[in-house]
Amino acid sequence: MARVNENYLKLPGSYLFSEIGRRVRDFSAQNPEAEIIRLGIGDVTLPIAPAIIEAMHKAVDEMGEKETFRGYAPDLGYDFLRNAIAENDYKSRGCDISADEIFVSDGAKCDCSNIQEIFSADSRIAVCDPVYPVYVDSNVMAGRCGEYDPEKQLWSNVIYMPCTAGNGFSPEFPKENPDLIYLCFPNNPTGATITRSRLQEWVDYANKTGAIILYDAAYEAYISQPDIPHSIYECDGARSCAIEFRSFSKNAGFTGVRLGFTVIPKELEADGVKVHPLWARRHGTKYNGAPYIIQRAGEAVYSEEGKKQLREQVSYYMNNAKCIYEGLRAAGYTVSGGENAPYIWLKTPDNMTSWEFFDYLLKRVNIVGTPGSGFGPSGEGYFRLTAFGTYENTVKAIERIKNMD
Ligand SMILES: Cc1ncc(COP(=O)(O)O)c(C=O)c1O
Repeated sequence: MARVNENYLKLPGSYLFSEIGRRVRDFSAQNPEAEIIRLGIGDVTLPIAPAIIEAMHKAVDEMGEKETFRGYAPDLGYDFLRNAIAENDYKSRGCDISADEIFVSDGAKCDCSNIQEIFSADSRIAVCDPVYPVYVDSNVMAGRCGEYDPEKQLWSNVIYMPCTAGNGFSPEFPKENPDLIYLCFPNNPTGATITRSRLQEWVDYANKTGAIILYDAAYEAYISQPDIPHSIYECDGARSCAIEFRSFSKNAGFTGVRLGFTVIPKELEADGVKVHPLWARRHGTKYNGAPYIIQRAGEAVYSEEGKKQLREQVSYYMNNAKCIYEGLRAAGYTVSGGENAPYIWLKTPDNMTSWEFFDYLLKRVNIVGTPGSGFGPSGEGYFRLTAFGTYENTVKAIERIKNMD
């Protein structure tokens, strides 16, 4: 008889964004005249940059000609894109990463959820709290997280690293030694960043304990300060303890286009076994390559025109972040993030819970954000706003919040 993977049944229901959607729909139905501004989900609003659209059009035309048509893409990505990534994202920052250590995919969500497959079923994982939910859920599906305690919102076999105002939203080393450590900087949801020297300490810690750091750098394009690393490979010794995930979603507006990549250095080992060939094997077996047209779009991200246009997009969103950050501060809120990240993390006023503040903001000023508790228990009492809205809506939203009595 067919049986399901019972680990799926352990996953708590009502995913954060479906609950938000439900509350917004109910409110809209009762208040059809309300002009709702959505600063909740981290999805981009600007159209794809012209240099990238041009590259896509050209690639579409190539697919329509006998001489230039392409079938299956190479499993690990076309050389033109892997070379552009190695050159622009790594060599130009002094990171020793070669094109054949880059695995092109259709986004970071798949990669950071699939990576756990190549590690032992009894690996202990450590995650920040609050956290991007995908890291934990993918390990739950694989049966690694033990049992869920709905009261505490914690899994029995996960090592949590609380990120609170007390530690500047930067995790401390866990008391027990994990095997796999998920780190994400600039962080979703807190918008916190990590300095190069602190990340170096994590790299040293992982090398000493034999752990592997799974480093999610999906928001690196939003960094402007020089002491904040864009890649973990800016740290000495990271090649022997770190895997890095990158996404084109937020740095190039590809949330609907889909492109990302994972970097695995060739010398990286888990208990004496090389990891690079295992991920290559997995990729080759379970994935048939990102589409040619999209990989050409990705290549255009690194063209001179593409870089210039994308710098403008990032500045547009970071201008929104500044508007939210400064506006909330002026209105008396305690705010962090938003300086090298497109997320603003604010303390809810008057000891409201995150969901109470969600309802309050929706009802009073028709603004949708994301309750911090949806990302983990240490997110309780916090709220996330994103800078990915339009400038007009962002300004309007902040004015509404400022004018709340
Ligand atoms: C921390 C983090 N990692 C990965 C992703 C997923 O990126 P992609 O769109 O490339 O799948 C997101 C998207 O919101 C994210 O916030």
